[in-house]
Amino acid sequence: MSASPAPSTRLIAFSSGKGGVGKTFLSLNVAVALAMSGRSVLLFDGDLGLANVHVLLGMQPELDLSDALAGRCTIAQTLLDGPAGVKILPGASGNRGMAELTISEMTRVIQAIDGLTPAPDYMVIDTGAGIGTQVTTLARLADSIVVVVRDEPASLADAYGLIKVMHQDFGSRNIDVVVNDATDVKRGEAVYHRLAEVATRFLGLPLTLAGVVPHENAALVATRRRETLLTAAPHSAAAMAIRQIAARLESTRVNPPGPRFLVDRLGSAERMDAT
Ligand SMILES: Nc1ncnc2c1ncn2[C@@H]1O[C@H](COP(=O)(O)OP(=O)(O)OP(=O)(O)O)[C@@H](O)[C@H]1O
Ligand SMILES: [Mg+2]
Repeated sequence: MSASPAPSTRLIAFSSGKGGVGKTFLSLNVAVALAMSGRSVLLFDGDLGLANVHVLLGMQPELDLSDALAGRCTIAQTLLDGPAGVKILPGASGNRGMAELTISEMTRVIQAIDGLTPAPDYMVIDTGAGIGTQVTTLARLADSIVVVVRDEPASLADAYGLIKVMHQDFGSRNIDVVVNDATDVKRGEAVYHRLAEVATRFLGLPLTLAGVVPHENAALVATRRRETLLTAAPHSAAAMAIRQIAARLESTRVNPPGPRFLVDRLGSAERMDAT
């Protein structure tokens, strides 16, 4: 029995700096798109204190990550069966302790995830907003960070802030941009070009456009019905854009591939802190 994710497990983190721009919506729907194309997918609700992946799906987990951390169960016992076979690792909702996990507690969580078997083809992490330690620690694990941005100045500024921190402080290089809730593809692409130009000029860092997701009324309807967009409105323009994003993320080669153990993707100080 293997005690670590297969080297082929791809880890994708959705983050944004600014809140409310569609990280959870996109993490969930991209996870479902990957699962629908035959991949095994673990969706980790990394918004640890205000988790809401399970809320979007109308699920009420009996156990979540906080129970696993407290030793009441294993991480494997918290996993839920989501749509299209996606396995969901639920976080806790309204739990201040979880919102303020120390680095060593987060490292323990990551070590426990390292031990999950069978290892999924993909792990998708929905991070919280901001650039705090929880967000940056989870984003550091990722082979690629998907930065979600909307066409508004504060979203662009915060996305740039996040990219700058991830690149300058942690050396992240593989950054994909999704422009969400766009009025049309052209405007969405223009938003990406503005962000990419600033990142190139001030950080020397090229960004990749993973896709533009249009504003979609069916998204709200699906959310109210506790369904994913991909299952509730699979032919909508946004669902098609999300499938394209999943396909693009699948086809992108990760260069260089991250270390096999997730915990090895953190600095040595954090690893020692956890022992
Ligand atoms: N393309 C879209 N069209 C229409 N509505 C959307 C779209 N993307 C997201 N939404 C809606 O926007 C709202 C906020 O999305 P979501 O909760 O995913 O944001 P978030 O970035 O995860 O927020 P937080 O920072 O609070 O975690 C949700 O009601 C979601 O259904
Ligand atoms: Mg969210």
